[in-house]
Amino acid sequence: NKLEMELEAIEKGGYEHFMLKEINEQPKSIADCMRGRLDAKNGRLVLGGLRDYMNKFQNADRIIITACGTSWHAGLVAEYLFEEFARIPVEVEYASEFRYRNPVISEKDFVIAISQSGETADTLAAIELAKSKGATIFGVCNVVGSSIARATHAGCYTHAGPEIGVASTKAFTAQISVLTMMALMLGYQRGTLTESKYVQLLNELEGIPAKVERALTMNDNVEKIAAIYKDSRNFLYLGRGYNFPVALEGALKLKEISYIHAEGYPAAEMKHGPIALIDEEMPVVFIATKDTSYEKVVSNIQEVKARKGKIIAVVTEGDTVVRGMADHVLEVPDTAEAFVPLLSVIPLQQLSYHIAVMRGCNVDQPRNLAKSVTVE
Ligand code: G6P
Repeated sequence: NKLEMELEAIEKGGYEHFMLKEINEQPKSIADCMRGRLDAKNGRLVLGGLRDYMNKFQNADRIIITACGTSWHAGLVAEYLFEEFARIPVEVEYASEFRYRNPVISEKDFVIAISQSGETADTLAAIELAKSKGATIFGVCNVVGSSIARATHAGCYTHAGPEIGVASTKAFTAQISVLTMMALMLGYQRGTLTESKYVQLLNELEGIPAKVERALTMNDNVEKIAAIYKDSRNFLYLGRGYNFPVALEGALKLKEISYIHAEGYPAAEMKHGPIALIDEEMPVVFIATKDTSYEKVVSNIQEVKARKGKIIAVVTEGDTVVRGMADHVLEVPDTAEAFVPLLSVIPLQQLSYHIAVMRGCNVDQPRNLAKSVTVE
């Protein structure tokens, strides 16, 4: 037992929890994910697993993404990526719904199943269903040789390394990294992304690990904010565009490990319900980076402020407008709009971590949750 404890301490690499270690590993895990695949200097992107299926991918009528939990959120980010860069319609499906719905699937569909563990029962069943209808199934898994990796026609591993904390962090950003590379490749091959834009994006993507490193330096500020709001009973997370899935993921992280009720919403939908909840007791986390919906998110912030809600905003470095309105700001480096989720999710992971620790929760093994759900 003592040996086990010592072994665990070694595995945690000096961190108090696996989750914190995994959050901090992200500059490396994202770099590992892109290693040998992305070569921005030479304008090259190679995904070995896609080679034999590039034709099917390029000519697909539709991309269907299926997953559960955090992996489903990565799928939502991918919907924006594939539609923006490759102009192919995308549907993102909870595996548990998809498998029981008698969905319309054909040989012209390209199905992407995303799973950290590669063992999620619902995702596996969704794959078998789509396969029986003749679709091509592509896996994005972290665990090598897992059931989903074996059940798919082809795939691409995320190479994030073992993720021990039940709440997924580095696996999520690695999934998004793989899906981003897939979308860029697809857009370039289909001609919906010009060569110059493609090369520019490849260069920006290569710089992401360093920017994640910079985003991580907000940790002390995040900890101070956590101390203020740790006893809140509800949280609202709002974002738009690429940051809408990030809002969902931020809320999921908080409820998973701190047991605080949290809801993620598209910022513009606030007026259709959540705004009724806002009072001085309600912390609202806005992801308000400088992108195409920035101005609109700023006006949502004003609406929350007018109702005395407490505003925690994730902003782009140097932002002064939101800083003047929010109670707290957390900065992330500027990047291409499509790559923002890889940065904006970082302070949200840290926020949930610190709140959970301050509430005395079992961060790495939250109650009632399992790392891989092999039953439906
Ligand atoms: C469980 C885990 C989540 C994970 C989800 C999907 O609920 O606790 O962290 O996102 O399953 O798991 P998968 O391994 O398929 O990504």
